Amino acid sequence: MNHARITGTGSYLPERILTNQDLERMVETSDTWIRERTGIEQRHIAEKDQLTSDLAEPAARRALEAAGKTPADVDLLIVATTTPDRVFPSTACLLQQKLGIHGSPAFDIQAVCTGFVYALSVAEKFIKTGSARCALVIGAETLSRIVNWQDRSTCVLFADGAGAVVLEASEEPGIISTHIHADGAYESLLTTVKPGPDTDPERLADGTAFIEMRGNEVFKMAVNTLGRIVDETLAAAGMGYQDIDWLVPHQANIRIIQATARKLDLPMDRVVVTVNRHGNTSAASVPLALDTAVRDGRIKRGDKILLEAFGGGFTWGSALIRF
Ligand code: ACO
Repeated sequence: MNHARITGTGSYLPERILTNQDLERMVETSDTWIRERTGIEQRHIAEKDQLTSDLAEPAARRALEAAGKTPADVDLLIVATTTPDRVFPSTACLLQQKLGIHGSPAFDIQAVCTGFVYALSVAEKFIKTGSARCALVIGAETLSRIVNWQDRSTCVLFADGAGAVVLEASEEPGIISTHIHADGAYESLLTTVKPGPDTDPERLADGTAFIEMRGNEVFKMAVNTLGRIVDETLAAAGMGYQDIDWLVPHQANIRIIQATARKLDLPMDRVVVTVNRHGNTSAASVPLALDTAVRDGRIKRGDKILLEAFGGGFTWGSALIRF
């Protein structure tokens, strides 16, 4: 059986930056509240005409370039997104067209903030079984389209962006293991509003819906669940906390990230944090953080990295990687 190894990473953030000071002018909030409760200082927001595949394309091209590959080499394309351009065709098919790839399987995965970890887990199986040799795996979101910009409890959190990796068949081990889970019993704690008589007709007309979240309950579940998933991952690999070089967590809230780092006994300088500059970009957050740390030289070939995420569904998952 083949191994599956990440050979290139890439990311893209829309140019427009929305700061906490900008949000102070939009809703009753403060820079201090947002920074103390979440760690977020700014986030990137797509232009109205920029859709998810528009952010995914430059991220994908950068990952391909880093891997020394061209679109013609790609034989599997997976996009993890909660905010597809359309209900159908899938964002993966729309991106495939933009990249000029024809014939390879292309599909979306919807697991909200855990989407990229789910997509990586699926692509890994394709490669290990020999069904694909060069997979493009992307997490991309335009969450700003489903944020209620009058709801201060959620609009300060979410943002837009895209991250991508190229996963190739390899003689050497890369992905050591992946672990994915879901429990729909918690669907109501983090959801999008069901269309009803009070739903804003304009939002319904453009096919969007608002995020609704019981933040405090989600916070507690996220901390406990992520603690369990890191234990599960390391136990499966027969590794201890000291074997991990880098934690690349889903970037939802600095306090959740710090709690997981404490659990791993990992100093914060071995944890990749982008939530301060990127906000919560859902499926894009893990590959965006990974690419940031690869490009600034922190993550190096051979490093052992633990990726983890938790999101709506609830869904949660992890991937242990030798980079
Ligand atoms: N500015 C000022 N005050 C605010 C704001 C705001 N932006 N938002 C809420 N508040 C107020 C509340 O109204 C409340 O006021 P009250 O005490 O008078 O009622 C007070 O602040 C405290 O509210 P809490 O919700 O209890 O605040 P908490 O400390 O829990 O922080 C937060 C809220 C940041 C949302 C936190 O709960 C959190 O991060 N939750 C998890 C989010 C997450 O990880 N989601 C998972 C992934 S996301 C995905 O899957 C798409």
